[in-house]
Amino acid sequence: MKRLGVLLSGRGSNFEAIARHIDNGQLEAEIAVVISNLADAPGLATARSLGLKALWVGGKGLSRDQYDQRLIEVLQEHQVDLVCLAGFMRLLGPVMVQAFPERILNIHPSLLPAFPGLHAQRQALEHGVKFAGCTVHFVDEGVDSGPIIRQAAVPVRDHDTEATLSARILQQEHRIYAEAIALVLNEEYRIENRRVIG
Ligand code: GAR
Repeated sequence: MKRLGVLLSGRGSNFEAIARHIDNGQLEAEIAVVISNLADAPGLATARSLGLKALWVGGKGLSRDQYDQRLIEVLQEHQVDLVCLAGFMRLLGPVMVQAFPERILNIHPSLLPAFPGLHAQRQALEHGVKFAGCTVHFVDEGVDSGPIIRQAAVPVRDHDTEATLSARILQQEHRIYAEAIALVLNEEYRIENRRVIG
């Protein structure tokens, strides 16, 4: 059984969706460890309540490389095959990316390459786009810049607020993240230049 390491910083609804897909038998994998950079991330408490291993790996006083090294140790200790960033709000550096080549996924709440970085849904509203969405991509050394595995688009309604748009996008996040994880775990894809085929 392939082992997932889930990294989160907040609520953890994407983590819960992954756990639900596993429980339903829609995703063949197990969650080996859930890690947060924040001790009080609600997602950590949820993981514990589900009986999963949940760890706080704080980064205070550590450089990016040192923090990455710490994460790598914990992930390797738990024999993780695939790292899933699920609302993990700390940037990973080259040390981490090189330790897990093509084995770190991220979910981002925009149709990349539009609106990378923080507050993607707010950026989309402020720009006035008519469609927004979400992206699952491989993590490379840039910010939200790696090869795109899955995307889903949703309409932007005239009366949308950041909250209503985010909720519409989140439903799609929960669906495409599990699909992308399955694709990568089953190695049913290939990458041609930047294009993920599969
Ligand atoms: C999700 O919308 C995710 O796409 C976003 O944070 C939220 C986490 O929600 N991630 C980023 O913005 C990464 N740049 P969750 O904790 O309920 O999964």
